[in-house]
Amino acid sequence: MRVIYTKPSLTRSGAYVVFVADGRKMSESADQLNSATKGSLKRAMASSNFEGAEGQTLEVLAPEGILAKQILLLGIGAPNKVDDLAVQSLGGAIYHSLAASGLKSASVLVDIIKGVKISDAEFAANIGYGCHLRSYRFNKYKTQEKDKASLTALAVMLNDVKGARRKFAPLRSVVDGVFFTRDLVSEPANVIYPISFVARLRSLAKLGIKTQVLDEKKMKRLGMGALLGVAQGSAHAPRMVAMQWNGSPKTKETRPIAFVGKGVTFDTGGISIKPAGGMEDMKWDMGGAGVVSGVMHALASRKAKVNAVGILGLVENMPSSTAQRPGDVVKTMSGQTIEVINTDAEGRLVLADALWWCQKTFKPHTVIDLATLTGAIIVSLGYHHAGMFSNNNKLAEKLLVAGKATGEELWRMPLGAAYDKQVRSQIADMKNVGGRDAGSITAAQILQRFIQKDVAWAHLDIAGVTWSKSDSPTVPKGGTGFGVRLLDRLVADEYESK
Ligand code: BES
Ligand code: MG
Ligand code: ZN
Repeated sequence: MRVIYTKPSLTRSGAYVVFVADGRKMSESADQLNSATKGSLKRAMASSNFEGAEGQTLEVLAPEGILAKQILLLGIGAPNKVDDLAVQSLGGAIYHSLAASGLKSASVLVDIIKGVKISDAEFAANIGYGCHLRSYRFNKYKTQEKDKASLTALAVMLNDVKGARRKFAPLRSVVDGVFFTRDLVSEPANVIYPISFVARLRSLAKLGIKTQVLDEKKMKRLGMGALLGVAQGSAHAPRMVAMQWNGSPKTKETRPIAFVGKGVTFDTGGISIKPAGGMEDMKWDMGGAGVVSGVMHALASRKAKVNAVGILGLVENMPSSTAQRPGDVVKTMSGQTIEVINTDAEGRLVLADALWWCQKTFKPHTVIDLATLTGAIIVSLGYHHAGMFSNNNKLAEKLLVAGKATGEELWRMPLGAAYDKQVRSQIADMKNVGGRDAGSITAAQILQRFIQKDVAWAHLDIAGVTWSKSDSPTVPKGGTGFGVRLLDRLVADEYESK
């Protein structure tokens, strides 16, 4: 997808997109096109149920009097309710309506209808952003069926071209980050395993990210017995990765913010093996690591004024004669021991060592981990909120705000000593499962045992939001990239030196 910003012109051939508010209230350019086409837009509206409601569309084909092959009317609803997120959805709707129209390009005429509170430039930038986000597809393995999408370019037309371009540039970086994540999440596990995941990160070097990789030998030396216990059943060797972006070297606060991702490239469950039905979903059990990679990509690409580090714990969880057994006791890098009751509760084992190494090595002021950690969070929240657990109310509040602003919404869940009791072990410092009840919370309690006292920490359980079975305006079905927009926004609003 290519999005360009240009001055308005009514001489294009492809399709025109114009906006209409509630009550069939047309924008100025819609009015102009209506006159140029001898009233066809008004006639089309009058003979349909198109009222201009938010997201409603009406295609007017082969309009008389102009070159264009189609005019798409797009409803914006009540003008005073139009915000960035709503406009992104409109951008997505444009892509969806025109993708398979047979047209290669379309022109969007942006001129604000009275009552809309955001500027033309902001409106235009968010149209481009939403359209881009919706245009994602993963079809590299389709060799026969031709891709039906023809639309490859969108011209967004407005007077303030400069302003729109300035606002769009950082959003474009976020799109690249989101797509980087969606690609990783969509790949099957015979293609993405720890070593090949690391190879994918090479493109980050060009953006100025410094990458450090730990192999098995180094992890053994560091005492990462929990992560290595998960890895020991697989023919694929594990890796730990640190990606550093130092965009703010001169500020007082030199400590970084850290993002830590669960990167289980396939989760069979291990010896506590999962049932066959739906097991293929476990190729995206590296979703947390995918998001962390995508966020680093976005931050570096838009040269964010922040010091950030991204940590990935990459392993494959397999059953084999070398796999760990239920009942095994492993020793983590922190020195704490864990009794492995269920080998399918592997994410917390991986994160225990990743979190500890992160804090010891990089001394972050804030740690946010992301993990497709529990099926239980899907029972709690379904597919529309990620679960958020935090030891710090300020951080939790900031995350909730960033979630609302980006549409990647979080719901805060509790932590507490009473839940922590559930993971006490008879023979080790803790066991890796706390029973069926409150499964997402007890998992978070285990993670919290690996967080140092003075560190602000949040854990995002993204098991329900990493993969989507249906399209939404800016997210086609499949890998969502949920978390990239959220964390990019958190950094932009709260952690960048201004
Ligand atoms: N990767 C799974 C969690 C998961 C489930 C992610 C569904 C996405 C969709 C995790 O490793 C796991 O297997 N968790 C177990 C924990 C249980 C054994 C305590 C679960 O949720 O069943
Ligand atoms: Mg598991
Ligand atoms: Zn898992």
